[in-house]
Amino acid sequence: MEKNSGFATQQIHVGKLEIPGIAPLATPIFQTSTFEFATTEQGAKRFALEEPGYIYTRLGNPNITKIGQKLAALEHAEAGMAMSSGMGAVTTVLWTALKAGDHLLADDALYGCTFSFFTHGLTRYGVEVTLVDFSDIEKVREAIRPNTKVFYFETPTNPNLKIIDIEAVAKLAHETCPEAKVIVDNTFATPYLQRPLDLGADVVIHSATKYLNGHGDVIAGMAAGKADFIQECTLFGLKDMTGAVLGPFEAYLIDRGLKTLDIRVKKHCENAMKVAKFLEGHPMVKRVIYPGLESHPRHDVAKKQMRNGFGGIVTFELNATREESAEFTNSLKLCTIAVSLGDAETLIEHPATMTHSTYTPEALEEAGIGVSMLRISVGLEDAEDIIADLDTCLNALKK
Ligand SMILES: Cc1ncc(COP(=O)(O)O)c(C=O)c1O
Repeated sequence: MEKNSGFATQQIHVGKLEIPGIAPLATPIFQTSTFEFATTEQGAKRFALEEPGYIYTRLGNPNITKIGQKLAALEHAEAGMAMSSGMGAVTTVLWTALKAGDHLLADDALYGCTFSFFTHGLTRYGVEVTLVDFSDIEKVREAIRPNTKVFYFETPTNPNLKIIDIEAVAKLAHETCPEAKVIVDNTFATPYLQRPLDLGADVVIHSATKYLNGHGDVIAGMAAGKADFIQECTLFGLKDMTGAVLGPFEAYLIDRGLKTLDIRVKKHCENAMKVAKFLEGHPMVKRVIYPGLESHPRHDVAKKQMRNGFGGIVTFELNATREESAEFTNSLKLCTIAVSLGDAETLIEHPATMTHSTYTPEALEEAGIGVSMLRISVGLEDAEDIIADLDTCLNALKK
């Protein structure tokens, strides 16, 4: 494969393992915990990093290496790695980047468990944490401290789809805190839509459970960035701090899912745009948030930094009580009530009581996460069928 191949070629071919004499098309699953050394001396050299080669699956495994290389190519990073969950990726990277006495500055709208790791977890170990609205760059500037070591945000944010200007935050962070890292959770966009590292970020994190795998059958996380930092995340954050190791079989499934990332995300985006426009025109819908709609307050920033579309998630509120809203979701036939996102199936959830139930009511309000918001992960079914299901159940509420 040529180094400058296109996205689709890379998502299929990067990291191909050559196994002389067998040459399987699909990478075999290296379902092994440890690797044999030819001699005691060889084992010692591998531990001392004086000789390349596998040692033990917590430190590396061919299936895991392969997907790390793939993500790195797709995200334009020097190196990539995989963990056993998105939270495994968040914790591994942050335990590596921060120490007691450092300050973490993060956006206030975060996936619920990232929010609780920051506010209840890291703070127990002497890390100072401030959450502000990163879509207001002046608020970010005002919250910077001399000990700020990490700027952290998602964009689009979960679940309220705020758009944060990656280039503007990275510029501010690097000008004011040269040692700090800008870490972006790129789960909602994927590298097919947005490449934070090209816009000045230092590290990208994914819940690979979502679009990177895309089939709702794996929990996994990934990160990509500069080679020396990713090596530190592997040999300290993952090896010693979290131990959040991905299984070889799960790595194989992610590798398989990645082969169709672009066509899946493209269809998610097309379907989501149709669903968003339908919801915007329905009298039972009070408000629709979708970065692809002209009505989104940061549509211009989304257009600037999202290359091929605006993602597969649509958030909306109904002209209805909480009970009626639950009645609506309960009556849906095709759309499934479930958390997670990025799967072939359309999934709908109520963030305030599900994915974001870790937030207090005050923190929800502060972050602009409405208690009546519904989040829909638009799947790969026919858009007309998804819309028909939503329409039937919205019309039933009207009566
Ligand atoms: C934006 C985002 N980041 C991180 C995570 C955590 O990922 P996982 O559930 O794979 O641990 C999630 C999970 O929903 C998420 O939505």
